[in-house]
Amino acid sequence: PCFSVVIPAAGIGKRVGADIPKQYLTVLDSTIIEHTLKPFIEHADIQRVVVSVSEDDQWFAHLKVATHPKLTVVKGGKERVDSVLSALKALPETDYVLVHDAARPCIQSSDIDKLMAHARETNSGAMLAYRVRDTMKRSDQFNHIKKTVDRENLWHALTPQMFNNKQLIDAISGVQQQHLITDEASAIELAGGQVTIIEGRSDNLKVTQSEDLLLAEFYLSKFNS
Ligand code: CTP
Ligand code: MG
Repeated sequence: PCFSVVIPAAGIGKRVGADIPKQYLTVLDSTIIEHTLKPFIEHADIQRVVVSVSEDDQWFAHLKVATHPKLTVVKGGKERVDSVLSALKALPETDYVLVHDAARPCIQSSDIDKLMAHARETNSGAMLAYRVRDTMKRSDQFNHIKKTVDRENLWHALTPQMFNNKQLIDAISGVQQQHLITDEASAIELAGGQVTIIEGRSDNLKVTQSEDLLLAEFYLSKFNS
């Protein structure tokens, strides 16, 4: 099968609170988004990588990777789902698209390969996730515990999430309440589709708050040594 990649990178990184969008902060030797793109650009089985950047992005074009022949840049949208959809529409016909957050620089090629192996073996999509480890509590609005939630089948959703690109476009476009789409799998779920989880690495973190920058730096330095 044929694989392509969509990287939503049009966010502003409000929660990190830096003066530029978090994907353009430097960690170790390069920007976060360059770390993120590397394993996809270098992957022999990936034909094309589409990155969605914000309308007023003034950083991406200056990156060394910006002129790579595998890369296409499109304008993102207001919400993550809008940025994903705009990139999906720019993709040529492909069997599978892997959607991966620009803000997850610690993705390892072994996890990308796990998803691709699943596609080859089962002819179907899947997403990465890792098991919840802590005891989980559900509370009311006053932080009073209502119950302890059974942890056995609870997962942290990760990216990449891999689906047929036509199926994903149809699923996203077909959902009435777009705010319910917080990842690609949720669009497929809402459209009535079946999504399988592939157990992924828990160090594939999303840089969300400023303290995550140190963690990302730590993991990236371990991977390269
Ligand atoms: N994203 C996007 N388009 C948007 C919003 C988010 O492409 N309109 C991307 C981000 O760039 C990021 C990924 O979606 O790579 C995950 O989103 P998140 O971690 O929430 O990033 P931000 O929206 O940038 O951060 P924040 O919510 O703190 O502002
Ligand atoms: Mg956001």
